[in-house]
Amino acid sequence: MADFDPVTKAVVPAAGLGTRFLPATKATPKEMLPIVDKPAIQYVVEEAVSAGLLDVLMVTGRSKRSIEDHFDVAYELEDALRAKGDAERLSQVQLPVDLATMHYVRQGEPKGLGHAVLCAKQHVGHEPFACLLGDDIIDARDPLLKRMIEVRATYGGSVIALMEVPREQVSLYGAAAIVPTGEDDVVRITDLVEKPPANEAPSNWAIIGRYVIDPAVFEVLENTPPGRGGEIQLTDALRTLASRSPDEGGPVHGVLFRGRRYDTGNKLDYLRTVVQFAANRPDLAPEFIPWLREFLDQAGS
Ligand code: G1P
Repeated sequence: MADFDPVTKAVVPAAGLGTRFLPATKATPKEMLPIVDKPAIQYVVEEAVSAGLLDVLMVTGRSKRSIEDHFDVAYELEDALRAKGDAERLSQVQLPVDLATMHYVRQGEPKGLGHAVLCAKQHVGHEPFACLLGDDIIDARDPLLKRMIEVRATYGGSVIALMEVPREQVSLYGAAAIVPTGEDDVVRITDLVEKPPANEAPSNWAIIGRYVIDPAVFEVLENTPPGRGGEIQLTDALRTLASRSPDEGGPVHGVLFRGRRYDTGNKLDYLRTVVQFAANRPDLAPEFIPWLREFLDQAGS
């Protein structure tokens, strides 16, 4: 097996304007919206950490300061909780601080996901890195990123996560043309199209927001013209890498994910996600589930 550089850094693009959640996101980043009582972005950082990535670079923008505060020490709050002897809440407040080494860079202009990833160039340097999109939450019981890092260790290049979606939904995602490898859950990518119309999609396999990326992507992104929506698309840069040889930063493989993924990128999916997380919480479920049943019975009658 070839010896590829290990993956140690995670990049989390978090500069989006969150327009789908206005007015809530006028002064609060959408990444800070809570899934029950934890901001969505904390789940994402926890996922990176459980895959062994302790260096997290967040690509932020204006009005995102509360993200930095969330991962920083809150002295007054900690003092107040300590004075009250509330050890349980104190540890919850301290947890995000001790998770990982956090770094921040600002995107400046919102020129697309590819451009956000390019903002990580200086921090990442010449190492492969993981990229995690905050709108997608992967269930901690289904360790996708760890598997992707293993696949990178075997094949080199880049690795994307794919999930099968109904044909009418494929236009919401990047879609992949795939060929099998000897492994059940691993495919080689031969083409990628960002948000294709359903009848032009190369398959029903959609890119979900987890990537392990070869550093050659930076040079490719610098030369990638704006694509769909006039934005510099990460999908377009990965498409270029998919056709390259290993000594030029290729190839691209896909891990077929069949586990639990939650979407927080739009209102309806966000609501579904909050309900599912609440229903899985031992402290809330015993009261929440019977209430929900009763509520639905009444709503249906
Ligand atoms: C981005 C990517 C897209 C991918 C999706 C996954 O799109 O550009 O290829 O399928 O994330 O969530 P966005 O949803 O940010 O528009």
